[in-house]
Amino acid sequence: MGKIGRNDPCWCGSGNKYKKCHLEFDRKLSMFRSMGAEVPTHGLIKTPEQIAGIRESAKINIAVLDYVSEHIKAGITTEEIDKWVYEQTVIRGGTPAPLNYDGYPKSVCTSIDNVVCHGIPSPDRVLKDGDIINVDVSTELNGYFSDSSRMFCIGEVSPEKKRLVEVTKQSLSVGLEQVKPWGFLGDMGNAINQFAIQNGYSVVRDIGGHGIGLEFHEDPWVSYVSLPGTEMLMAPGLVFTIEPMINMGTHEIYEDEHDGWTIYTADGKPSAQWEIQVLVTDDGYEILCY
Ligand code: MF3
Ligand code: CO
Repeated sequence: MGKIGRNDPCWCGSGNKYKKCHLEFDRKLSMFRSMGAEVPTHGLIKTPEQIAGIRESAKINIAVLDYVSEHIKAGITTEEIDKWVYEQTVIRGGTPAPLNYDGYPKSVCTSIDNVVCHGIPSPDRVLKDGDIINVDVSTELNGYFSDSSRMFCIGEVSPEKKRLVEVTKQSLSVGLEQVKPWGFLGDMGNAINQFAIQNGYSVVRDIGGHGIGLEFHEDPWVSYVSLPGTEMLMAPGLVFTIEPMINMGTHEIYEDEHDGWTIYTADGKPSAQWEIQVLVTDDGYEILCY
């Protein structure tokens, strides 16, 4: 690992000597790399200071989603959710990360029923009894990013859709069981895919999760249909999202050709998604945002 001496300050910014800090870590990375594994760059390994900053951003994200949980109901429009998210983020000192991201026009994504993700809030879409909706909130605070989403069942929802929402939520725990230092993202992705298949569902393949922290979307790209022992090595300090989109029918999807954002299931059947943001720690994981 280059020129850094054992007694030099560690590259991670801890102020500790390299030999007492990330020396052993770098040896492990080298070993995994020599075995052909995809290993994270140092730039993806968050320092304690960066993790503290991400936690503060996440506090806002969680509070905004809590606010949505308390107020969402039949009769409101998705435009109103967008207004809540904007206001509740800004009064806490944050900025909604989606707003103007790649030209995205709103502060939040609201995805109902057969919309898989990236649904754009609209004054014309009124929530009604039986809808299932994903509200995907992302916050920037002092250059640190957080991202999580939850599903809401509006009024009386069919048992089939309720089960989809519940199984998708459970899939996060199934994936989390595989998040441990020196494991692979593919261990997690495979666990989620197998769990979805066992329940008669399919997992979206073409859109995945992502690294996050210093940018909204960083490496690695995260699949939830990957194979054990493949994809990026989960080194302590890596931060990424677990956000599987699980479909009742086919995994196939298409993008709205008019707005360029909304993603639909190809067969028109419902889709659900929950999202958490996770840090790999020395002995497991920490959920930073939910
Ligand atoms: N929040 C989404 C994610 O989980 C990203 C949405 S990008 C946007 O990655 F521009 F549509 F907001
Ligand atoms: Co995300």
